[in-house]
Amino acid sequence: MNVKQNILVMGGNGFIGSHLVDRLVADGHSVRVFDKYPERYRAPLTEVEYHYGDFGNRGLLGEALRNIDTVYHLISTSLPKTSNDDPAFDVQSNVIETIFLLEQCLAQKISKFVFVSSGGTIYGRPERLPIAEDAPTNPECSYGITKLTIEKYLALYHHLHGLDYLIVRPSNPYGSRQDPRGIQGAIAVFLGKVAGGEPIVVWGDGEVGRDYIYIDDLVEGIVRAVGTPSQSRIFNLGSGVCVSLTQLIEIIGDAIGSIVAVHHAPGRGFDVPQIRLDITRARRELGWNPETSLRDGVLSMYDFIRSAVKSS
Ligand SMILES: NC(=O)c1ccc[n+]([C@@H]2O[C@H](COP(=O)([O-])OP(=O)(O)OC[C@H]3O[C@@H](n4cnc5c(N)ncnc54)[C@H](O)[C@@H]3O)[C@@H](O)[C@H]2O)c1
Repeated sequence: MNVKQNILVMGGNGFIGSHLVDRLVADGHSVRVFDKYPERYRAPLTEVEYHYGDFGNRGLLGEALRNIDTVYHLISTSLPKTSNDDPAFDVQSNVIETIFLLEQCLAQKISKFVFVSSGGTIYGRPERLPIAEDAPTNPECSYGITKLTIEKYLALYHHLHGLDYLIVRPSNPYGSRQDPRGIQGAIAVFLGKVAGGEPIVVWGDGEVGRDYIYIDDLVEGIVRAVGTPSQSRIFNLGSGVCVSLTQLIEIIGDAIGSIVAVHHAPGRGFDVPQIRLDITRARRELGWNPETSLRDGVLSMYDFIRSAVKSS
């Protein structure tokens, strides 16, 4: 995207959002963030205009949307693992509030709406690997269903009102500013344990495989997807490689140069055995390629994790 824009990043103080904000600022855009909380790991940026509030506060949202060209929607009020505990909350706080957001975007004549969906959950148990964008979508958690539903509403708003939208489906992103004490992001959680001198807990036999994408590569993919003219509106963004938990632990040990203690626990029924995204479309249409090796990404993330664990 060469033209300088007024951009609103919803959820811009989170892990992915904060990196996206950095990139948009570096590209010379005027950036506004709407988020419930300040950033956890650093002070607010002087170049960014922050609007604090809950996603459900439509008055505040209306103000945040004023004079905005492009909206990036990264707010999610739920997580894959816990979303099934309260699906009604999930639907209300994500789907319904996103529909109100779309209504406000139409009213304020937003030129583009970018939604960060989920490549790890919306396909469910894949029939085959790698998983392309047109593969069946059978999410096995409420989080995946709400992501998919929002995608469908974006298509509907395009059909009814001409809303210009773009959807990215990241696999499993990792990198600095991801919470090592959280319940998602195996690499962050594992490195948090290692940095704190605790054993890594592996549920099951370690064969569960995921497609890990380094945060800088993901942000590059998002920016290219938005800035490249294309007929496609949905892009998988992953590494295109499936790495088992056992392999991941080996890579972590190799990268940090020490033996990693592992504790095995019973497998969890909700873990889809393997995810590997087909990233051919993003490669072909965006000229994008994930550049960071897992070893290099783990190593650079470990520096962040050590300082985060030390200061907690
Ligand atoms: N991290 C992943 O593994 C992953 C993978 C695929 C897709 N995604 C999606 O990418 C987006 C960003 O994920 P992330 O990992 O950066 O999450 P995150 O939790 O780090 O960031 C989300 C941000 O949204 C804000 N937020 C949450 N609820 C809010 C509310 N009610 N009102 C206002 N702000 C609210 C939080 O304060 C936070 O700053 C989410 O939509 C997520 O579903 C994440």
